[in-house]
Amino acid sequence: MTVPANSATAATPATDAIAGQLAALRSEIARHDHAYYVLDQPRIPDAEYDRLFRELQALEAAHPEHITPDSPTRRVGGQPLPQFEPVRHVVPMLSIRTETDTEASGARSFDARLRKELGLAESDPAIEYVAELKFDGLAINLRYEQGVLVQAATRGDGSTGEDVTQNIRTIRGIPLRLQGNAPALLEVRGEVYMSRPDFERYNNRQRALGRVTLVNPRNGAAGSVRQLDPKIAAQRPLSFFVYGLGQTAGWPLPATHAAVLDALADFGLPVCGHRVVTHGAEGLLNFHEHIRALRNSLPFDIDGVVYKVNSLALQQQLGFITREPRWAVAHKYPAEEALTTVEAIDIQVGRTGALTPVARLQPVFVGGVTVTNATLHNEDEIRRKDVRVGDTVIVRRAGDVIPEIVASLPERRPLLTPEFIMPTHCPVCGSAIEKPADEAVARCSGGLYCPAQRKRALLHFASRLALDIEGLGDKLVEQLVDQNLVRTPADIYRLTSAQLAGLERMAEKSAGNLLAAIAQSRQTTLARFVYALGIRNVGETTAKALARYFGTFEALLAADEETLFKVPDVGPIVAASLVHFFSEPHNLEVIAQLQAAGVHWSQEPAAAQVESAIAGKTFVLTGTLPNMTREQARALIEAHGGKVSGSISRKTDFLVAGDEAGSKLDKAQALGVAVLDESQLMELLQS
Ligand code: IVH
Repeated sequence: MTVPANSATAATPATDAIAGQLAALRSEIARHDHAYYVLDQPRIPDAEYDRLFRELQALEAAHPEHITPDSPTRRVGGQPLPQFEPVRHVVPMLSIRTETDTEASGARSFDARLRKELGLAESDPAIEYVAELKFDGLAINLRYEQGVLVQAATRGDGSTGEDVTQNIRTIRGIPLRLQGNAPALLEVRGEVYMSRPDFERYNNRQRALGRVTLVNPRNGAAGSVRQLDPKIAAQRPLSFFVYGLGQTAGWPLPATHAAVLDALADFGLPVCGHRVVTHGAEGLLNFHEHIRALRNSLPFDIDGVVYKVNSLALQQQLGFITREPRWAVAHKYPAEEALTTVEAIDIQVGRTGALTPVARLQPVFVGGVTVTNATLHNEDEIRRKDVRVGDTVIVRRAGDVIPEIVASLPERRPLLTPEFIMPTHCPVCGSAIEKPADEAVARCSGGLYCPAQRKRALLHFASRLALDIEGLGDKLVEQLVDQNLVRTPADIYRLTSAQLAGLERMAEKSAGNLLAAIAQSRQTTLARFVYALGIRNVGETTAKALARYFGTFEALLAADEETLFKVPDVGPIVAASLVHFFSEPHNLEVIAQLQAAGVHWSQEPAAAQVESAIAGKTFVLTGTLPNMTREQARALIEAHGGKVSGSISRKTDFLVAGDEAGSKLDKAQALGVAVLDESQLMELLQS
């Protein structure tokens, strides 16, 4: 819609007044758009913005002859296009050379190359650079004539792109009119992208509506810009960063790239704040490192950083090789996503019977490592992503996060590929699989009958944070269980060197080392022992909290759910797991066997005792405590380094009195001994 401001109507004082009112409204809204989308500092509430917008719409509806192309109401697109018109770039849109090295040499070789090109000696000063981000979206050229956005085009082959003006106008961070003293002609270049939060929000909404989701932010951005129906494009939340210039006229060029970016920001264009002016290869490398650490916390995707010579005169001197400038280079990070195929979907059985489908992948290099497996979490996840054996999938490994399958590409799926079906019976022991309706996780019901669960339980028992039996790893546990040498953790302590000698890859020396490690593991701590039992929902931290609270294993065993609640870090689920575990005769039997085999621990950590407020203090217990037995209270006090005595004397520090406390209470009061109730005792212990 490009209606000249005063086409049919003659200018009268009345029409002038309306035109003035419209111009004021438009620029006010544009200022708020800039504050919100470019500066990220909204100045007015949304409702107030909406009111201004509606006022402008109403005024324009009444006076369509005054509508101008830079009006914010013109952002929402018009009719679908049959195709995009070609646009010739007067200044070609070039690409930049990419340094594929993931190592420091990327920046070093660039700097060295330029110094040679410029004939610089070692004693000459370092070259000044701008280092900025390499945004992962779609390159766009924006053309402003007399400050008004008149055209937006894709890069295409570099000399001819496509006219995507309608779609680009819907991006609120792109000003339809430049601020300040705009040049006669200004073309700027930058990247259209979709922010991660916008991508998530968009996909969540699509999912809720049962519609197709976007694969990743870059596809989201590129697909939206090249959408022939501008109404669809307008619904996709896109953003923009400017990083350079195209054709210009009537504008005195600044001397440096940094000054160009500052000037573009002053025109109201969005320039990314993560940019520095720096010197030499070391400066570039610092930026590369700094951004690498920041990468995953940025609200948008990048695939590297870009280094540019700052001086425009030097840029000109360096010039181009074929289609790439000599003065710029992209230094990429390892790709975080790659395509590969699913060779199989296996079901892993965990320590507690949880079944986890795992995709076995055609090995692929992604995020700096070779990935061969990716967890599929559970059945719902497989359904949602519709992953099947034989599928081509996008694998993502960002930072040190475990690799995951982002999406499968059904368009590349071989014909007649069946859906994946979860087994109804455990693939290891054949027991039925249980899946409570309100849980995502399916479990093997075989318990310790299931060799897979048994193996996992044994590995857990021997792991570093549990009883720490060095040398008792995967391969060995596998053999020990398969050959029926070990069924429960207690069996580990009955192993003989003769039995070990019969195993694969078990030299005499390693058998000896293993037996020594097993013997050594007998001396442990209560926290490690509790953790080693592999009670569902009881991790290392909870085990420590339990050990600290109860002090003895007997006190823990005796605790009911209500008492367990009192332990910091223990909620109803953990409490129920503990009670359930200790009510299984089989578990108690294994515990008894372990103790009979000599597994033991001293009272809880000496460190806690030293720090404790009650270390060395003498307590006397009397009466019935509301939540614990006197035995449990004694264990607790002792675990914190206190002493418990049977009778009151002047040496007694505290009397802990419950209901129906008798003569001891009287005596304590007579002697001036401090009297605590159970909750005061707990407070003291925790202080
Ligand atoms: S400058 C003449 N700067 O990377 C130099 N490009 O091959 C032209 N890109 O698709 C490019 N971030 O869209 C430049 N800060 C940045 C960039 C950047 C992303 C994209 C660009 C193009 C590719 C360069």
